[in-house]
Amino acid sequence: MKKVLFLASLVCATSIFAADGATLFKTCATCHGAKAEKPALNKSQVIAGWSTDKITAALNGYKDGTYGGPLKGTMTPQVKNLSADDIKALASYISTIK
Ligand code: HEC
Repeated sequence: MKKVLFLASLVCATSIFAADGATLFKTCATCHGAKAEKPALNKSQVIAGWSTDKITAALNGYKDGTYGGPLKGTMTPQVKNLSADDIKALASYISTIK
């Protein structure tokens, strides 16, 4: 019994601390749409359907200033506090939005 409880608490702890793409994406949805289906501020590409790699590359690029169009200044503050795990979680979430 003790062992079961211990395992259960481990599972809970993991789900609390793991980066959650769906939760992280809520801030992005304001501009990109709930299903990533909108061109943000009518300017960005529609990111729904992008691969995990493409999204990861774009987000890391906004972070280090190597990627972006005329409105990249809008994205820089969105990504600057994201950890590598957050970016991974976001990218895999966005790539599966239908
Ligand atoms: C304030 C509105 C806004 C928010 C919030 C926002 N974005 Fe963006 N996003 C933009 C704009 C505008 C662009 C196009 C910027 C440019 O010119 O490169 C963009 C571009 C992108 C791109 C690349 C698309 C392209 O056109 O090259 C990705 C990927 C992206 N955003 C993901 C995200 C993620 C993930 C979040 C949440 C962490 C987020 N965005 C939050 C406005 C926003």
